[in-house]
Amino acid sequence: MSQENVVEPVGQFGRPRGVLGRLAGWLMALTNRPLNRWAVEVLEVRPGDHILEIGFGPGHLIQLLAERATEGFVAGIDLSEVMVEQAARRNRRTVRQGRVELCQGSVSSLPYEDGRFDKVVAVNTFQFWPDPENDLREVRRVLKPGGTLVLGLRLKNPARRFLGGLGHTGDEVAAIGTLLAEAGFTGISTRGYQQGQERVAYLVAARPLTG
Ligand SMILES: C[S@@+](CC[C@H](N)C(=O)[O-])C[C@H]1O[C@@H](n2cnc3c(N)ncnc32)[C@H](O)[C@@H]1O
Repeated sequence: MSQENVVEPVGQFGRPRGVLGRLAGWLMALTNRPLNRWAVEVLEVRPGDHILEIGFGPGHLIQLLAERATEGFVAGIDLSEVMVEQAARRNRRTVRQGRVELCQGSVSSLPYEDGRFDKVVAVNTFQFWPDPENDLREVRRVLKPGGTLVLGLRLKNPARRFLGGLGHTGDEVAAIGTLLAEAGFTGISTRGYQQGQERVAYLVAARPLTG
């Protein structure tokens, strides 16, 4: 096994690398399906929407978004080269059509012009962002005035058999809501979903029409 694969397994979800990273991507595509379906519902995708997903992992949500934004555009950015490869394979048809564009990079420095997107979504990735205050301001920059941000946050559930200790507490979700307000977002609200042992909070926020 090469050195790049000798890493702590949970770290593979923060930035999948090498063979274990490919395995982590496969696992995420399997286990995060409900989170992605709920995100689509919260986003209320319209055919003409221009949408950015941050931290797309294996690219399942990108696929769901492209199925709905049929006259729009879906962009994605992820830190992991392995995830860019997996997501590009999963979305090869819409990438070829020019309706989906995937790139490797960080939320901290988004390669898009100001006001480029109607909607930005990030599911199960906020906990890995290196500088949340700056990163949220960067997200706000690429949203159109009046545009919507949806942050999907998996909630901690010790009863969950797999990775039960991972996830946010209610207090952490509230603190992220405060960060959103400090980064200049308005209309902040939370929607909760649950299926079996899976619980997820979606923070919804808007870039104000002015400023
Ligand atoms: C736990 S995975 C979630 C993937 C996918 N959203 C899902 O729910 O299946 C977290 C993803 O965020 C990406 N990521 C971590 N830090 C990032 C950053 N600073 N900018 C962009 N993506 C990042 C990782 O590479 C990884 O693909």
